[in-house]
Amino acid sequence: MTKFAIDFGTAVTKIFQLGSGNGIVLSEATCVTVDRGTREIRSLGDEAKKVLGKTADTDVIFPVYEGEIVDEALAGELLHYFFGKIGRKGFTEALFCVPCGCTKENRAKYLRVARDAGLSKVSFVEVPYLAALGMSVPVSESNPAFAIDIGAGKTSLAAFSFDGINAGLNMNVGGNNMDTSIIDHIAQTYNLKIGLSTAEKLKNTVGSLIPHDHQSYVVQGRDITSGKPRQVAVYSEDIVRPISVYVNLILEYAELILRKLPEEISATMCRSGIYLSGGVSAMPGLGDYVQGRLQMDAHVAEDPQMAVVLGGGRVLGNAALLDKLLMK
Ligand SMILES: Nc1ncnc2c1ncn2[C@@H]1O[C@H](COP(=O)(O)OP(=O)(O)OP(=O)(O)O)[C@@H](O)[C@H]1O
Ligand SMILES: [Mg+2]
Repeated sequence: MTKFAIDFGTAVTKIFQLGSGNGIVLSEATCVTVDRGTREIRSLGDEAKKVLGKTADTDVIFPVYEGEIVDEALAGELLHYFFGKIGRKGFTEALFCVPCGCTKENRAKYLRVARDAGLSKVSFVEVPYLAALGMSVPVSESNPAFAIDIGAGKTSLAAFSFDGINAGLNMNVGGNNMDTSIIDHIAQTYNLKIGLSTAEKLKNTVGSLIPHDHQSYVVQGRDITSGKPRQVAVYSEDIVRPISVYVNLILEYAELILRKLPEEISATMCRSGIYLSGGVSAMPGLGDYVQGRLQMDAHVAEDPQMAVVLGGGRVLGNAALLDKLLMK
């Protein structure tokens, strides 16, 4: 039987295959385009994301929003498409990486979508455990850890050991908020309207929390007054504010959680530090910024965007640990 770990993210779906061809076998946009009139599917995955902001006759839909399945039919079609690409055969076991405290109703949605995509046995493990496993954090029953995963639509923060989550929460804040905020900022500063894809590219190319970082990226947009196309060079320091507003918000909640923890746990956290994963954690300078703000060590995953699904693959290969961590 083939086993898969699936991180069905707001922006990107990541799939890990256990067994032959062991490793991450897919990373594609969680995106579908449909014909605006007939609602027929036009494209899926990365192909669909390319169309964002470029056509008038198709709607671009993200069937997972802020970590929850919001369009079951399209989510099912998308997973089916992804598994077709991977070339799955026969009976398959799937582990979904889900947000902290994912409700029964939400899990029921995953189960229906998985069934539509032809997946057989399905289980669920919460993101913080998987992020820690993906980063090889020395967490155990007696050794707790503090992890923050900053994705596109949500951020999960949790203090936990393999005995359970001591304190944690999900915030509907992530890279998507930063992109929208960058659009507003460019409009105000340069009187230039840019699209979502451009804002994301700008953030991922020169977005930085390194003080006085001076990298630049040329963005194309439309002059708000004249309506004519225009371009402007944007520097890292120009977009620090629309990014740091959200990072600061996340860190305020991190501090709240740390303050609420029992003293012994809090002391262990302060010694071991904080573990950062999720695509946004790839931003240069984020680790040092978090370290400065929280006055504790911050460790950024080697491949932040893949940490969770990698942890999913690791837990799939350890039946005893899987039994301990899966949501019942
Ligand atoms: N170098 C980078 N700097 C900043 N942000 C980045 C970088 N690379 C990717 N991102 C952002 O990371 C986000 C995607 O990360 P990830 O794949 O962890 O999210 P997701 O799992 O799809 O979403 P969620 O966990 O919220 O459901 C996007 O917002 C993307 O723009
Ligand atoms: Mg994610």
